[in-house]
Amino acid sequence: MYNAPIIDKLLKLNRQDIVSFHVPGHKNGRIYDKILYEKFKDVLYKLDTTEIPGTDNLHDAKEIIMESQRGASEVFESEETFFLVNGSTSGIYSMIMASTSPGDKILVDRNCHQSVINASILGELVPIYMYPDVDEKRGIAMGVSPDEIETQLKRHSDIEAVVLTYPTYYGVACNLKKIEKIVHKYDKILLVDEAHGAHLGLSGDLPPTALSCGADAVVQSAHKTLPSFTQSSMLHIQGDRIDRDKLKFMLRMHQSSSPSYLLLSSLDFAVMVYETEGRQLMKALLENIRNFRQKAKAIGGIDVMETDSVGNKKIASMDITRIYIGFENIIGYELEQKLRKDFNIQMELSNRYGVLGVTSIANTAQDFDKLLGALDRISGDMKGRKIKQLRGPAFKNGPAFENIEQVFTPREALYRDRQKIPFEKSQGYVSREYIIPYPPGIPLIMPGERINDEIIQKVIYVINNGGKILGLNDSSCRWIEVIKN
Ligand SMILES: Cc1ncc(COP(=O)(O)O)c(C=O)c1O
Repeated sequence: MYNAPIIDKLLKLNRQDIVSFHVPGHKNGRIYDKILYEKFKDVLYKLDTTEIPGTDNLHDAKEIIMESQRGASEVFESEETFFLVNGSTSGIYSMIMASTSPGDKILVDRNCHQSVINASILGELVPIYMYPDVDEKRGIAMGVSPDEIETQLKRHSDIEAVVLTYPTYYGVACNLKKIEKIVHKYDKILLVDEAHGAHLGLSGDLPPTALSCGADAVVQSAHKTLPSFTQSSMLHIQGDRIDRDKLKFMLRMHQSSSPSYLLLSSLDFAVMVYETEGRQLMKALLENIRNFRQKAKAIGGIDVMETDSVGNKKIASMDITRIYIGFENIIGYELEQKLRKDFNIQMELSNRYGVLGVTSIANTAQDFDKLLGALDRISGDMKGRKIKQLRGPAFKNGPAFENIEQVFTPREALYRDRQKIPFEKSQGYVSREYIIPYPPGIPLIMPGERINDEIIQKVIYVINNGGKILGLNDSSCRWIEVIKN
């Protein structure tokens, strides 16, 4: 008999009452305990409807969706805001394809989300990459510099748009204000993937919002850091550099023709919370975080990433709601598992060196106390433990990796004939796959780029030293798909 395994498991997990330092931003619905707004949670299933008289049409909003989007536009200080029900991914596709034509170049950070590269595949674009600095101690990609953007804009006068991740998963924010001046000086379009920054406007202690820095279009995953449901996001526009009709066409193309009213309602809710109690709740969150950081630092052998990198590594500011924690004698992957298994705490992700927590206004002081207690216990349990090579390979992008030959665009690579060959023998071949050492998640190879011996040696080194390689169909890295000669 069919027993609804998804529902059963989710309810079981729900009963475990896991402390959430991961997305979505409503933190297992905890936000509803903080907000005196009962209307929403108790009637959720009744809100799932479609386009009938009295509702509205996302693709031609004239009534309640239009009203809500206009409200969001005021609250987030855009000129126009579009609700997204297919994640930030759909907004990234739409803003990039609305700003470009087939054959155009776009300038992107090499550690951008895959949706940016996929947009280049869909839109037949040529991506030009900028390499971020790397924090080698923690294996994290840092910022890209305004100077490098200017250099690339001078070198490629046919770049149409610059697409930047701001802030990154780890909360790193480049100098977007300065970058905006440069991009617009060259009369190019500035598109910002602010998937991780929907909450930035809630406090002056966070990096400035991309809209306030002057970006032309900004995509935000409201579901990551605000209390809306997974997959619900927003696209904000300002200025006249982007053709709005073309943008609306792209949004229709990349979004479902049956937009979920549950997602739309949750965006409505998130905007309301942002506008009403958002700043107050953020103030409380930041206080909890400062408290947490101070106490965590007193725990022996622990590394809590602070804002001291600001000014270095091309970083202009950091989002302190992201918490990165490492121990000198525990591998990050193990730390993440331990926190979940022994302490019922789920972090967002781990790399070899530590774990990342995504916090939101729905987190409580008790959540931070539990995390502190767990870290304190782990620190005690691990006292005296030595591990071989926590740091693993000192991963660094040297110039050798930055001069990789782009033989085909990612789209051309996708449609070429392919063959599978042993990875170790792939020197000189053009890859059809990504090769992404993790950490720090900066692709060594994008589809369409030529593999050289240095890359092969690097990958072997990373694998032999406990790192991971993402992006290949064969995750053990023995085989790779290349373009047929
Ligand atoms: C930097 C970045 N951009 C875009 C996305 C895509 O967002 P969504 O999952 O809302 O489609 C993600 C997802 O994790 C991301 O990390």
